[in-house]
Amino acid sequence: MTLASIIEPYVGKTGGLITALHAVQKERGFLPEDIEAVAAEVFNLTRAEVRGVISFYHDFKRAPQGETVVRVCAAEACQAAGGRALVADIEKAFALKMGETSASKDLTLEPVYCLGLCSCAPAAMVGDRLVARADTDKIAKTVEKTKKERVS
Ligand code: FES
Repeated sequence: MTLASIIEPYVGKTGGLITALHAVQKERGFLPEDIEAVAAEVFNLTRAEVRGVISFYHDFKRAPQGETVVRVCAAEACQAAGGRALVADIEKAFALKMGETSASKDLTLEPVYCLGLCSCAPAAMVGDRLVARADTDKIAKTVEKTKKERVS
């Protein structure tokens, strides 16, 4: 499917651009480089307008993600509960910086801005699993569990 054919059904609908971008991400796993030009043409917008929408929402990915995505909360409550130290420790443990994907494409680290677990900060998410009172050991074990389940 071309990008245009994915997004055309959403033209003229309320919230059409955002829904179309989600459809592209679902289909491709991320928003490819030419999405701004194609969406601008199909929706009769400027590329800057499309770029503004994409950059506003953290859920839109501009590059392929790893098979397992580890999201570490970078919002206030988690920062106050040792979130920065946790990020530094996780980056060291996985030899990746926030926002990076491993060369083998098995793991992505990224920040997230509140997981709704503020009372159990610091919080993280591994795939679709929430990790309360997160530490590097809990996260690493959850990553391994997620990988094993994917293999079996
Ligand atoms: S601030 Fe981290 S879960 Fe809400």
